[in-house]
Amino acid sequence: MEIVADIPGPEECATRIFNYSGQKFEPEVAAEYWMKILQHKWFLSEKLGRDVGFKVACVDFIDNTESIQQELMKEQTVNLLKELGAQVIDRSIWDTISETQPPKRIVDKMIILPLTEVELAQKHGVTPPKTIIFFGPPGTGKTHFVKAIAGVLGWWYIEASPSDLMADGQDRLGKNLKQLMEKAATVDNAVIFIDEFEEIAGNRDQASRVDKSITNEFLKQVPLFKKQAGNTLLVCATNYIEQLDSALLRPGRFDLIIPVGALDNEGRKTIFEHYLEKTNHGEVDIDKLVGMIDFFTPADIEYLFRKVTQRSFEKELAEGKDYRISTGDFTGLLPRVKPSLNVEIIKQFDRDCHKYTRL
Ligand SMILES: Nc1ncnc2c1ncn2[C@@H]1O[C@H](COP(=O)(O)OP(=O)(O)OP(=O)(O)O)[C@@H](O)[C@H]1O
Ligand SMILES: [Mg+2]
Repeated sequence: MEIVADIPGPEECATRIFNYSGQKFEPEVAAEYWMKILQHKWFLSEKLGRDVGFKVACVDFIDNTESIQQELMKEQTVNLLKELGAQVIDRSIWDTISETQPPKRIVDKMIILPLTEVELAQKHGVTPPKTIIFFGPPGTGKTHFVKAIAGVLGWWYIEASPSDLMADGQDRLGKNLKQLMEKAATVDNAVIFIDEFEEIAGNRDQASRVDKSITNEFLKQVPLFKKQAGNTLLVCATNYIEQLDSALLRPGRFDLIIPVGALDNEGRKTIFEHYLEKTNHGEVDIDKLVGMIDFFTPADIEYLFRKVTQRSFEKELAEGKDYRISTGDFTGLLPRVKPSLNVEIIKQFDRDCHKYTRL
């Protein structure tokens, strides 16, 4: 038997391979494989003493070629990551958080190190966490921490909010959530982040029938996710921990429940310096200014800088000469930026910390 001299173009090769095996390849790859499939057809026919068809040769070739299997897996993983909107996060985001900013030390000790110092963790019987809740007032840095974790671990960052999961209708939320969790569990080295978690896992006593079914779905998914062997973390964030269903908060479902609260002076200073570095500035009395922004969250500091930089930009445009930000620019604009935190919010947060924190 001879190798049939039928060498179609790359696109046609991809179509043929797809029709025979159901596997999709890029045309260039398909063209390369097609030649090998023709050889394989000849080889199989010789071996079996009968003329095997293209379909048999194609399927057998794909099934038995390790490198193709690896290619396929790689391609499937890439497609899945694309579908899930996976992002690569810069490692440097971790350094924008000062050592004293809570909960950096907890995150380091209880999440990062058990996942990076694997042998030592095993030696001491420490199991790295798989499921985590971050709670705290708006703008305190919950999302920022989740990104920082993904960055420092060098893992994929996959984010989903209830509004994403409801994009094709509220009644689809449960189904989309199930799909997301099932897919996410098959990805390796990924942090899966669900924001506005109370919308998905709200208290069933106060929920409508639809909401209840979503919470139930989530309660089912968490143990399945925890059973997956790969390197994955599920992190959920909420501003309203008291609204979560109590069944979810019981030990066993979430390994860690971590508060993300107000910044201390050091934390405010680190963030202030981080943003200041990106501006066109002159003499700025950082300590004085940091002392004036007691109840500011990271989001408030970011907003203050947006205002100050916009103003300096406009000044230079108007005056036509280099304008450098100074302490006065900040003190002038500070009265216009209202801090998100106050004594009442902090008291409530302290009560929540007492009641819900689990480390
Ligand atoms: N060291 C830092 N810690 C936390 N956030 C920071 C830090 N440096 C900068 N930020 C910025 O502060 C802003 C607020 O943080 P983030 O969005 O993480 O808060 P959040 O708690 O998730 O808020 P929300 O409850 O509204 O979702 C973000 O733009 C973030 O990038
Ligand atoms: Mg957030």
